[in-house]
Amino acid sequence: MTDERGAVISELLRSHRSIRRFKTDPIEPELIERICADAIQGSSSSGNLNTFALVLTEDPARKAKLCALHYEQPMIRQAPLLITFCADVHRTRRWLTLREARDNFNNLQGFLVAAFDAIILAQSVALACEAHGLGICYLGTTIDAATEIARTLELPETCVPVTSLVVGYPDEAPARRDRLPLAAYLHRERYQPPADADFLDLYAERESKGWQRYQALGPDMAAKMAEHGITSLAQFYTSDLKYAPARCEATSEQFSQLLVEQGYTDRLRGTARRKQG
Ligand SMILES: Cc1cc2nc3c(=O)[nH]c(=O)nc-3n(C[C@H](O)[C@H](O)[C@H](O)COP(=O)(O)O)c2cc1C
Repeated sequence: MTDERGAVISELLRSHRSIRRFKTDPIEPELIERICADAIQGSSSSGNLNTFALVLTEDPARKAKLCALHYEQPMIRQAPLLITFCADVHRTRRWLTLREARDNFNNLQGFLVAAFDAIILAQSVALACEAHGLGICYLGTTIDAATEIARTLELPETCVPVTSLVVGYPDEAPARRDRLPLAAYLHRERYQPPADADFLDLYAERESKGWQRYQALGPDMAAKMAEHGITSLAQFYTSDLKYAPARCEATSEQFSQLLVEQGYTDRLRGTARRKQG
């Protein structure tokens, strides 16, 4: 029995692929609720306070608005469901207030704990979706556009979006994306960094496959890479075409500001200070 359950979970994990093309078929409302309820029940949570909120967006007009905030990633319009996962201590704090307990969690620790709870839940939802034949894709752009998303979803104080999942029935069967060899991630008893040559060996297959994959996206991408003087996958990752340092810095600054505005903390980064008066 244990072996069977283990084999089912292994198969589920091994068959994961992010899906970026979806059928427009709706998802049965009972299935969405069951997945959310199962995932909440099946996710550990700090102090069992469950400091998260999920906002389900199915209305096409609202989805289109959020799609624009997520840099127009087309799968968002296509798929029937977008779930925004929020680090939410607002609900818990309201309960504390109504029960005349001391306020707490409107601080960086509260945000971190709530963000971890929300991310753990998101992955449980992702797995449950996949187990039910649905496809998912995370949206890292949630962090980039967190301020506008918070406004659009009318998030209250100490409630901040941390990730999103696009959900729907898959309309593609992409190849599995490889990971580095296990040795790259796994350290026994203490962190043991390999020598540079061994280290690059761990990345060799990723570099060649990743490079080929981006080049295969078409002549436009290949031309853009050449224009930016990109000659390796590593260079691509921090180029202006992917994770440009300046854009990451700007996002960091904005997100810090959002944590201040939403009442989580007033002690983050240079310019992010709680407004006086
Ligand atoms: C936090 C997070 C944010 C992501 N953001 C995006 C995104 O904005 N757009 C996208 O197409 N894929 C996004 N992805 C999917 C990753 O690109 C994908 O998981 C990775 O390439 C590995 O592929 P796989 O999920 O098919 O194994 C994101 C994944 C994670 C975990």
